Amino acid sequence: MNPYQHKKRWKYLLLAFAVVIASGSLFYTSYLVKNIAKSERTRAQVWAISMRQILASDDNDFLNYVFAVRDSLTVPAIITDGKGEIVTYRGLDTTRTSIKLEAETKKYKKYDPAYFKEELEYMKEQHAPIKLKVFGEDNYVYYKDSPLLSQLRLFPYVQLTVIAIFLLMAYTAFSSSRKSEQDRVWVGLAKETAHQLGTPISSLIAWIELMKEKFNAQDDVLIAEMENDVKRLEIVADRFSKIGSKAVLEEHSVYAVVKDFVDYFKVRVSKNISFEFTGNPHLKAGLNVPLFDWVLENLLKNAVNAIEGKGSIKVDICGNKVKNQVFIDITDTGKGIARSKFDTVFQPGYTTRKRGWGLGLSLTKRIIENYHNGQIFVKDSELGKGTTFRIVLKNTRNDKKTTNG
Ligand SMILES: Nc1ncnc2c1ncn2[C@@H]1O[C@H](COP(=O)(O)OP(=O)(O)OP(=O)(O)O)[C@@H](O)[C@H]1O
Ligand SMILES: [Mg+2]
Repeated sequence: MNPYQHKKRWKYLLLAFAVVIASGSLFYTSYLVKNIAKSERTRAQVWAISMRQILASDDNDFLNYVFAVRDSLTVPAIITDGKGEIVTYRGLDTTRTSIKLEAETKKYKKYDPAYFKEELEYMKEQHAPIKLKVFGEDNYVYYKDSPLLSQLRLFPYVQLTVIAIFLLMAYTAFSSSRKSEQDRVWVGLAKETAHQLGTPISSLIAWIELMKEKFNAQDDVLIAEMENDVKRLEIVADRFSKIGSKAVLEEHSVYAVVKDFVDYFKVRVSKNISFEFTGNPHLKAGLNVPLFDWVLENLLKNAVNAIEGKGSIKVDICGNKVKNQVFIDITDTGKGIARSKFDTVFQPGYTTRKRGWGLGLSLTKRIIENYHNGQIFVKDSELGKGTTFRIVLKNTRNDKKTTNG
């Protein structure tokens, strides 16, 4: 079973769940807002009726009762007459509506008329006015949402933003802790492997020397082959030890390093696969050659695996003078990668091969990103036609001969 298929399904499920929660919360709050808005209109109406009773009545008991009812209503409102002049108001900012005695001039300062105008305009925008007849004249009651209702309208957005920020922080924390855990596993395993290989390799080298002496066989073909294999083992151990520690980068001609490896590699694969090597020989980058060879080996092996039968592999080295970068493009005529898998192929454990571990590309990505401060990605791919992987490194020599890639 492919764990990445699972991961994706979970991601979609969680996303769907989040959308359900968010829309449920928005729906419920908008339901509450609608009901409160309805009740606020009723309250404005009650206030308007009470005002009419106050203006029309001289019964003190009744007036006290009406005042009590009126003051229990918290909807900010203004009544205007037929000409639009303000008759009375309620629930507005008292610091701007009241008449105050000014200490300096000892005069009463009138309320702020601009404030009333502003409020009236705002109320006109918010709700249609309630018409009210007082002494046969048409008056209009304008009102706006109470502070409570305004806050409630904002509430779901504030709530969702807070939840989103929280989820983002949690996700970042989890993924960075998972990444550092992965780092520790990689580094630990690599160190242990290099350590375990070290002792038998040293013994093998010593045994070979002893054999040569004992059988007086300096030029024996079998011993030479054995020596080659031991050298290969040494390279493998060296790679693992470098993965387990901080790699030292040295400036190298990218062209020379890549060409050396391609030349070594191409004679070891089927004759049905042809190789083409092109590029700018002047580009330089900081490289750790044993680790970089490992990258090339993984990419070229994958290209060979992707070509079923006859095909070709093209390696090209070019650069971008403006961005001061070196590009290494490896193109094959293999089976191609689906666009949806462009990122997935770099995940550890993802493989489509029967005997693959799915580790090659994730190791390659680590070597390029963590040890060479570069980038690697699928530049292009088409199913059935082929794939181009691109490595981007920093050009350490801004040569005039650099071509734009
Ligand atoms: N050039 C390519 N063309 C088509 N598919 C590719 C190519 N390179 C990688 N892939 C796909 O990406 C998968 C992962 O590659 P990766 O090198 O990480 O693992 P692997 O080759 O399957 O196993 P191994 O651990 O032995 O390298 C491959 O199984 C293959 O499906
Ligand atoms: Mg591979």
